[in-house]
Amino acid sequence: MSRKKIIAGNWKMNKTVPEALELVKALKPLVAGVTDVEIVITPSFTALYPVGIEIAGSNIELASQGIFWKASGAYTSQISAAQLLDVGVKYVIIGHSEPRGRFGVAEEGANDEFYKYFGESDHTVNLKTLFALKSGLLPIVCVGETLAERKAGETDTIVRDQIVKALNKVEPSSSSQIVFAYEPVWAIGTGEVCDAVEADRVCGVIRDQIGIQLGSAAAKAIRIQYGGSMKPDNAAELLAKENIDGGLIGGASLKAQDFAAIVNAAS
Ligand code: PGA
Repeated sequence: MSRKKIIAGNWKMNKTVPEALELVKALKPLVAGVTDVEIVITPSFTALYPVGIEIAGSNIELASQGIFWKASGAYTSQISAAQLLDVGVKYVIIGHSEPRGRFGVAEEGANDEFYKYFGESDHTVNLKTLFALKSGLLPIVCVGETLAERKAGETDTIVRDQIVKALNKVEPSSSSQIVFAYEPVWAIGTGEVCDAVEADRVCGVIRDQIGIQLGSAAAKAIRIQYGGSMKPDNAAELLAKENIDGGLIGGASLKAQDFAAIVNAAS
């Protein structure tokens, strides 16, 4: 079965509304002819609505950097599925290592450089995944090991465990909607990309674990992205690998030329 490649730009906490519009206006013509790759961008919440209007009718789709697992109510600072659907959001990034809190909480004295600011846990990743699916949003679930875990030889165990917990109570019937992103924490924003053979191997481990939990049809259908310092000059090698079905791009998605080059490498 062939899986359509999916290239998603994660803009993180960058771009005002005018800057976001400028970026997407520059991007549109550069990827206009691409039909064999799903192209997704993830602006900040403030820019979702205007950017959604700007890309209406184009081949670019909208994702959100967050979601809460309740429909509405007294949840100051959070955003709901209905609010996201209302402005045309299709995908939602869940469990990115920056909000994940399993490496320590953001208390005074904690190691700020090791980020993990928002206390996201495997449990909240699961709640958000279930709620997104129920609401008609498509989760992009991020998993990945830290450098210490890699050095300790724990990569496969960590990644399998994150998937077990993310997929708790997920029905096989809705599972083909999920996208996974293998994002080794040590490769994110560092310029240090994971070797393509190794990235493909870990994506294979992820596919195997999906198969154990959701069956072989889901394992074949579900797309797995690689994320972590993917750039125009390393994208083609990564994207040619059997188990890598796309990319989750941070830094390089902030420049229209670079992001378009990665999209074209997937095409
Ligand atoms: P990066 O970020 O491309 O800047 O390494 C990837 C990500 O965080 O998804």
